[in-house]
Amino acid sequence: MHIFCAAFPFALLIPVCCSAATSQMWEEWKTQHNRGYSNQTEAALRRAIWEKNLLLVLTHNQEASAGKHSFVMGLNHLADMTAEEINERLNGLKLEEPLRFRNGTFNDAASLSIPESVDWRERGLVGPVRNQGSCGSCWAFSSLGALEGQMKKKTGVLITLSPQNLVDCSIPDRNFGCNGGFITKSYSYIIRNRGVDSESFYPYEHQNGKCRYSDKGKAAYCSDLHILPQGDEAALQAAVASVGPIAVAVNAMLSSFQLYKGGLYNVPDCNPVLINHAVLVVGYGTDGGQDYWLVKNSWGTDWGEGGFIRMARNKKNLCGIATLGVYPIL
Ligand SMILES: *[C@@H]1O[C@H](CO)[C@@H](O)[C@H](O)[C@H]1NC(C)=O
Ligand SMILES: *[C@@H]1O[C@H](CO)[C@@H](O)[C@H](O)[C@H]1NC(C)=O
Repeated sequence: MHIFCAAFPFALLIPVCCSAATSQMWEEWKTQHNRGYSNQTEAALRRAIWEKNLLLVLTHNQEASAGKHSFVMGLNHLADMTAEEINERLNGLKLEEPLRFRNGTFNDAASLSIPESVDWRERGLVGPVRNQGSCGSCWAFSSLGALEGQMKKKTGVLITLSPQNLVDCSIPDRNFGCNGGFITKSYSYIIRNRGVDSESFYPYEHQNGKCRYSDKGKAAYCSDLHILPQGDEAALQAAVASVGPIAVAVNAMLSSFQLYKGGLYNVPDCNPVLINHAVLVVGYGTDGGQDYWLVKNSWGTDWGEGGFIRMARNKKNLCGIATLGVYPIL
């Protein structure tokens, strides 16, 4: 899409210089993302935000082609929302408790020979990319992603699990449904409940609902959880290599993350303390001399590299990728 106006000498001036072209892009974007607005005021507001994001994306991508950035941005389905709105609606990770409870070191770290790169997708431990919609349920997708991997390792079958089950039923464990939750408390619920249903039995509705768990749909369980040492990327690497996909939290507050399109996400000012979004580390590797984490998001396949992002690794815990790593123990 950034090619659209590239023939103009001053691409940065697009909203001023070629509003007809911008209008056409806006119409195309709305069609592509099936967007309609309830009234003129709302439509004008959304277009203004979208144009701001357009400018941001064009500027960034121009800098990227000049070699200033290792990733590009794009006008995905979130492009008519402000960063604040996305943080409020989608990034519902709660934090206070996990920071108090840590299981300390990843014990096997020293004794393992750790491979240079890992991609659990190749080993069938990673299910299809999901879309949480306008519901702060990232914590449910993230925690279930790690559990799906452990179940596949144990049973040989990869079954997509039900985030709706967690959204509706883990309120007593002090999760807040679409208003946010904890990775650790997802597992507390599954341990207490002695199971969690499959997605096919208990489908996702992207809104809060009444708890409808049934043993009939049970597709996974766990008996304990392990919290990795805070901020330790070596321990996270060892855990990813030997355990499988690990539920983590990241700072997803920046527009560069929200409108990430592809490449190696490396934003030095991405604060590792301000983590607000739960995702799943499914591997790691090195590209062009830069180490990266391979991360699965729950914002659909339109976002990033088919729903995944490669985030800089061994860059002082960039975006807090190793601030809160958790996995379930069957
Ligand atoms: C326009 O739509 C928005 C979003 O649905 C709503 O909040 C607002 O009240 C509406 N304004 C008018 C004038 O109808
Ligand atoms: C890790 O810590 C959590 C939270 O305190 C606890 O529930 C869990 O049993 C611990 N797991 C292990 C393996 O020590």
